[in-house]
Order: sequence, then C-alpha cells, then structure tokens
Amino acid sequence: MEAKITALGTYVPERIVDNHYFESMIETNDEWIVSRTGIHTRRFAAEDEYTSHLCIAAAKNLVETYNVVLDDVDFILVGTVTPDQTMPSMATQIQDYFGIKHAGALDISAACAGFAYGIVLAKGLIAGGTHRKILVFGAETLSKFTDFTDRTSCILFGDGAGVVLVEAAPKGNILGVVTGSQGDCGKELYLTNTHKQINGVDVIVDNKIHQNGRAVFKWAINTVAEQMPILAERSNLKMSDIDWFIPHSANLRIIEALCAQTGFPLEKTLESITLYANTSSASIPLALQRGLREGKVKKGDRLLMIGFGGGLVYAGVVVEWDV
Ligand code: COA
Repeated sequence: MEAKITALGTYVPERIVDNHYFESMIETNDEWIVSRTGIHTRRFAAEDEYTSHLCIAAAKNLVETYNVVLDDVDFILVGTVTPDQTMPSMATQIQDYFGIKHAGALDISAACAGFAYGIVLAKGLIAGGTHRKILVFGAETLSKFTDFTDRTSCILFGDGAGVVLVEAAPKGNILGVVTGSQGDCGKELYLTNTHKQINGVDVIVDNKIHQNGRAVFKWAINTVAEQMPILAERSNLKMSDIDWFIPHSANLRIIEALCAQTGFPLEKTLESITLYANTSSASIPLALQRGLREGKVKKGDRLLMIGFGGGLVYAGVVVEWDV
C-alpha cells in the first residue's frame, strides 16, 4: 500500500491583529512591516485558547469538509514548537478529545518544517505496512511565546493550525521527499527550556522565541533554492512540472527571493504570510487551504511544499492533489 493524502482541515483564531497594533508597543509602522515581510494581518489565540484547541478545531473542519470518520485513525502526528505543555503531547490530547482508541501519538519538534516532516513520517509508516490512517497536524500558538519588546521578531508571528489525513491506498499521491538539518545553526533561531547555551554559545532563557533574522533569511534562501530541483527529481518530475510551490510562509521576501533565484514563477506560489503572518508549522496547510478556497489548486495539480526553520531543519514533499 502507498500513502495518500485524502483530506485537509484548517483553523485560525478569531482575533485579527493588524500592523498598527504594534505601533504603541515598539518603534515600527505598517509600511515597514509590509515592505520587509509582506505581512498585513495575523491571528492571535485567545488567552484561554491553546495549541491543542487549534488542532481540534482544524480536525473538526477536516471532518465536516470531507465527511470522514476519525475512529479508526491509528497514528496522530503533531508538528508544533508551541505545545500547551511539553508532556503530555498534543497528539495524546487530540486522541483523547476524539475518543480515538489505540492510536499511536507523537509530537514532532521541527519548528516550521514540522508539518512537512509529519507527512514524510506518515508516508514511511504506511509504506512500511504498520499503519493505515494517520492524522498529520501543523499547529502553533506563537503569540504566547513572542517577545513583544523585540521589534525584529514580534511583528512576524501568528497563530493557526492545519491537518491532513494520510491513508493507505493502492496508489499514493506523495511522490517524493527531502529532509535535512544544520544543527550548528541552532543558536540562530530558538525557544529555550533549561540549558543556557546552544552550540556552546550563551542564549536568552526566557521561554520566548529569539532569532538572528538575517542569518535565517540567507540560510532559508540558499537551502530551499538548492532543495527544490532535488525534490522535483526525487518525484520523477522537473520543476516545470510543478503547478504550485508552497514554501513555508516565513516572509514574502523569502518567497520572492526563492523565485528570483530559481526562475520559478512567483504567480505559481501559494502563501499564508500576508493574512496570517508566520504561523510556523501551520503555514503550509493554511496556504494550501487558501489556494483551494480561491479555486487555484485543481485536481491533479502537483504541489511542491518545503518547510524550513528552527534547528535549523528542512523537509519537503511533492503531492499530487487528487482529493
Ligand atoms: N520596525 C521598524 N524597523 C525595524 C523593525 C521593525 N519591526 N525591525 C527591525 N527594524 C530595523 C532594524 O533595527 C534595522 O535598523 P538599523 O539599520 O538602524 O540597524 C533595520 O530595520 C533593518 O533591519 P534588518 O534586520 O536588516 O531588516 P531585514 O530587512 O533583514 O528584515 C526580518 C528583518 C526579521 C524581517 C528579516 O530578516 C526576516 O524575515 N528574516 C527571516 C526571519 C524568519 O523568517 N524567521 C523564521 C524562519 S522559519
């Protein structure tokens, strides 16, 4: 049996936050944020709304849209770096909420690549013959881990969740995958727990996200531009066969630079950055959902998705969208 994505669900919190929100807190303005990042608005979770709630809402959206049952799901994977708590995992809380019996449950720490990593793992579990029906989430409440005194990072983040169902089928639709990491750059983008150092260097221990924006920007462009044709080739395709490129929405400037560097047409990219900002592991499913709702993505389209972020890590998959 092969792995096939058969359904998608998404959710974003109700509260819309525009760029003017930051003007009373830090020295910034709407024009700077739009021109440097492409972000116009983001969603912030309510005070009593956590990552597990966003996952549950996204799964409900999937069930309602595709009329599927979750009772026989046998594995739950959740890409998140902003779980309600480190233990128990978000995956177990979703299993409990939906009363799914005997499902394996695992959270994935791969930052903005968490959703793509989940798809890679689901493909492997199904190809290995041990599992048949897997939920893969990417979900974050980054606003709860944002340093609102740091103007270089606080304007970037938003909250949201996405989920796909991956099922065993005679013919799959996940064509090829790539994965990779560069741990020596861990200190460039982090959210600490206890240790005061990363890569032997002192870092800020305050349960907030910190980054070297320029270093991450450069790494993202070089790495993703290099991996795009490799991923296409592993899927037995050329880049010209790809209908939609869906990179992690970290910054619109990164997406534009990737297209400029590789020659891939910008108008064939899907993004969630302008409306939802950087939602880390949720950004790819949110961009795909926009593409579907706007009637851009059609049955049979080939989607090249690459997540990249803290670790530093990346993961990519090509999916033939026949859902
Ligand atoms: N409002 C106004 N000015 C700001 C600002 C803000 N919110 N944030 C930074 N600035 C200032 C800087 O202090 C700097 O001023 P200076 O020249 O007087 O020192 C100037 O704007 C330029 O800063 P710089 O860091 O060079 O801007 P940039 O064009 O590189 O954009 C990021 C900064 C963070 C938007 C950009 O580097 C980025 O998006 N990096 C990738 C981050 C990312 O995606 N991380 C997650 C990856 S998964």
